[in-house]
Amino acid sequence: MPNPAPLTGKEVFFSNKDFIVSKTNTKGILLYGNKIFLDIAGYTEEEIIGKPHNILRHPDMPRCVFKIFWEYLQRGDEIFAYVVNKCKNGDHYWVFAHATPSFDKNGNIIAYHSNRRVPDPVFVSDTIVPLYAALRKIEQSESNANAGMEKAYAHLRSLIQPEHGEDYNAWLFNL
Ligand SMILES: Cc1cc2nc3c(=O)[nH]c(=O)nc-3n(C[C@H](O)[C@H](O)[C@H](O)COP(=O)(O)O)c2cc1C
Repeated sequence: MPNPAPLTGKEVFFSNKDFIVSKTNTKGILLYGNKIFLDIAGYTEEEIIGKPHNILRHPDMPRCVFKIFWEYLQRGDEIFAYVVNKCKNGDHYWVFAHATPSFDKNGNIIAYHSNRRVPDPVFVSDTIVPLYAALRKIEQSESNANAGMEKAYAHLRSLIQPEHGEDYNAWLFNL
């Protein structure tokens, strides 16, 4: 369940020497969050372990980005993503996330793992914020949330396709 606290509009920051780390099961239920994760998001370990990772979900994040995110992980690929997260108190913080599946010895996916660093703030404000706003606008243009998400997803794919085919990561690194 996303955290229902009202947004404060206040951005908070972590050190560019730090990594925010979390691990989930295959359903996106939190198994672990490191101290930096807990400190910036404002939760105790007891409050997050066993909860869905969307406890951090911020309403400015396009649904279609999470669709691609999960597609990559569920087929066994790693993915990079810029994400704005919501703290327990309604503040927010931007991260550059790298997420990977973990496999057992037979190659089955048994968990997911994400490390996040401080993103380039100019790239976020000049490129990612307008991109996500455009995707959210498409998502909100349909009365049916799923139809809106599919429309935004198709738009995102149309941005990636011409030069990078199906490769979201390559596209992102060339933005
Ligand atoms: C390893 C891993 C890390 C994730 N990290 C975040 C995160 O930092 N913020 C976030 O909003 N969702 C994160 N998610 C995605 C959530 O599980 C969820 O798909 C997303 O918040 C969208 O939620 P919704 O389906 O309720 O819209 C992560 C998922 C995995 C597997």
